[in-house]
Amino acid sequence: MRLYAISDLHLGSTENRETLSAITPRPDDWLAIAGDVGETEEHLRFALDALGGKFARLIWTPGNHELWSLPPGSPRGRARYERMVELCQARGALTPEDDYPLAAFGGRTFRVAPLFTLYDYSFRPDDVPFEQAVAWAREAGVRCADEIMLDPAPHPDRPSWCRERCDLAERRLRAACADGTPTVLINHWPLLSELVRVPRAPRFSLWCGTRRTADWPRRFRAEVVISGHLHMRGTTIVDGVRYEEVSLGYPQQWRRRIAPDALAVQVLG
Ligand SMILES: [Fe+2]
Ligand SMILES: [Fe+2]
Repeated sequence: MRLYAISDLHLGSTENRETLSAITPRPDDWLAIAGDVGETEEHLRFALDALGGKFARLIWTPGNHELWSLPPGSPRGRARYERMVELCQARGALTPEDDYPLAAFGGRTFRVAPLFTLYDYSFRPDDVPFEQAVAWAREAGVRCADEIMLDPAPHPDRPSWCRERCDLAERRLRAACADGTPTVLINHWPLLSELVRVPRAPRFSLWCGTRRTADWPRRFRAEVVISGHLHMRGTTIVDGVRYEEVSLGYPQQWRRRIAPDALAVQVLG
């Protein structure tokens, strides 16, 4: 059995929706979907239905786009996340709320941990105070739609939600990893700040993760860490741990760059 991964399907794009049918079926293998499937429940249902028949098991983690309050009147914040989790569980897809299962890829056993950690603006230079971080990005013309669209309810703000999610994941990883089995960590946002390279808008790093997770890959024995969000596909090795950015992205970002057979990235096996 192998593990494949993809993220940032952005199914609001008709071309991206059509591309799902081009993903090679691998009925014996698992597929991790690392967030930004789209903005609506319909986008998530579409992806789960289209990909569920192609792989033995799907693993889903949320991205910021799933958490946007769209369409108006739909559930917001934590209630929205829980609704997305329900949709996944109803179709047998693993979510960050499920036990972290053991799975054998390429004959080796791994613990598979889908995570949802969000961000807390801590990916910023040390001399920029937390309170001024968003204004510091705005000075350079950098804004993130999450500031308007990603409602953190019932938390007072996104960093509070991030803290709660990290506390929970850290506790669960500590318990699940006590047996020393190597892990596969899956999260929409990169776990390390040094992986965040956004040349056209470096200050966008504020919305890309949290320093809280920097030592998780080594502490929790990650063989590989899967993430998306940056729309910059690639493999990076840091301190002996492999990091796979597996975004598809918007059509202009993947068209002519990704072969149909490589839409989903083979990560293990
Ligand atoms: Fe994205
Ligand atoms: Fe994202």
